[in-house]
Amino acid sequence: MKRFLIAGNWKMNKTAAEAESFINKLKEKKISNEEEVAVLVPFTDLYSVKSALSGCGIKFGAQNVHFEASGAFTGEVSVPMLSEIGVDYCVIGHSERREYFNETDETVNKKLKVLLEAGITPILCVGESLEVREQGEEQAFVGGQLVADFADIAAADAAKIVIAYEPIWAIGTGKTATPEQAEEMCAFIRGVMEGLYDGVVAESMLILYGGSMNAKNAKDLLEKPDINGGLIGGASLKADDFATIAEAAASLS
Ligand code: PGA
Repeated sequence: MKRFLIAGNWKMNKTAAEAESFINKLKEKKISNEEEVAVLVPFTDLYSVKSALSGCGIKFGAQNVHFEASGAFTGEVSVPMLSEIGVDYCVIGHSERREYFNETDETVNKKLKVLLEAGITPILCVGESLEVREQGEEQAFVGGQLVADFADIAAADAAKIVIAYEPIWAIGTGKTATPEQAEEMCAFIRGVMEGLYDGVVAESMLILYGGSMNAKNAKDLLEKPDINGGLIGGASLKADDFATIAEAAASLS
């Protein structure tokens, strides 16, 4: 049976009150695969989302973390802070953080390690720009990101990491990768994991697609053998659309 994760990346959207009313709406949908669904929310929404989700199987998480446990890092949030709230997931290395906030493969690697140590599941984002794809270099680029991001991470830990393949040209643009393009890259990523670790690790890993996934195109993407779910931005902000995507996954598992 194929495993899925349908994860909503809210980005910088929704106040704590808005988050609470969204979760209440989502719960009313009675999603059939709640355990395979997560919302990734701004830090300020974590408490209200946690309390609104009580009694429901939907998971939750943050969108970034600092690699130090504490100290003089004004404006940052640490793993112990997230652990105490009880988050399930944390997004790491989203292309928006790589582009606007100096996230590098080196900081991504440090963040993955501290999250794994704390038992929080990282959702690691990789993906190429349009320029890289036009040069036909997408596999070399994404392969390079993966080798650097997984440096010195043991197989048992690597298996716990969720990878989201998010081509930058498809994020927020309405220009989704075709199911074939998405499958090709997710299969390539699984192959890289097999090379770095082994076939058992590679097969056990959840590899998601992200980039303009929506209620209409989700099923065609999720049907592909190497796509274990979606990291969904815009369409995760509407309870109806997000629930439809979750049900598309449920119908395939
Ligand atoms: P999008 O964002 O679904 O709005 O394209 C996806 C993401 O950036 O995670």
